[in-house]
Amino acid sequence: MKVGRVTLSDRASAGVYEDLSGPEIERVFRECWGEACDFVARLLRDERSLIAASLHELCEVEQCPLVITTGGTGPSARDVTPEATRDVIDKELPGFGEAMRMTSFDTVPTAILSRATAGTRGRSLILNLPGNPRAVGECLPPLIPAIREAIRHLSP
Ligand code: MTE
Repeated sequence: MKVGRVTLSDRASAGVYEDLSGPEIERVFRECWGEACDFVARLLRDERSLIAASLHELCEVEQCPLVITTGGTGPSARDVTPEATRDVIDKELPGFGEAMRMTSFDTVPTAILSRATAGTRGRSLILNLPGNPRAVGECLPPLIPAIREAIRHLSP
């Protein structure tokens, strides 16, 4: 399966620090998915129109059945990933965000600061994850059964 992975971070995209979350998506997803995946990687600054254009391209040109973002889901002024996601999706799937906040909250009380969401664009599923590399490993594995089912519903 072809998977888009998009890291949203002003500082990582400017080279201030290394993007650890994007590669972590690949590592965790490969471990959980159990089938071969090819990743298409993007690293962008927190700019709503840029993010929306990249999500659009990964869905419509690259035709990724799954696009996973990391970062930009918090309360800061520059955090606009959920807004950019809503700019391109047809249907929102709020359960993905609800589940990751719920499962993380007991151990990570700040998990509820993430506004991560998900939704469908044509035959693609777009899923937001928080930007902390540790959060990728905490949030992604419990979502795998629902990701699998959503992709089944969207495939021709
Ligand atoms: N969820 C998990 N599981 N683990 C975390 O470390 N960090 C939280 C939250 N969700 C975190 C988490 C924090 S501190 C913030 S500010 C928000 O995700 C948003 O992060 P983002 O803006 O990098 O996406």
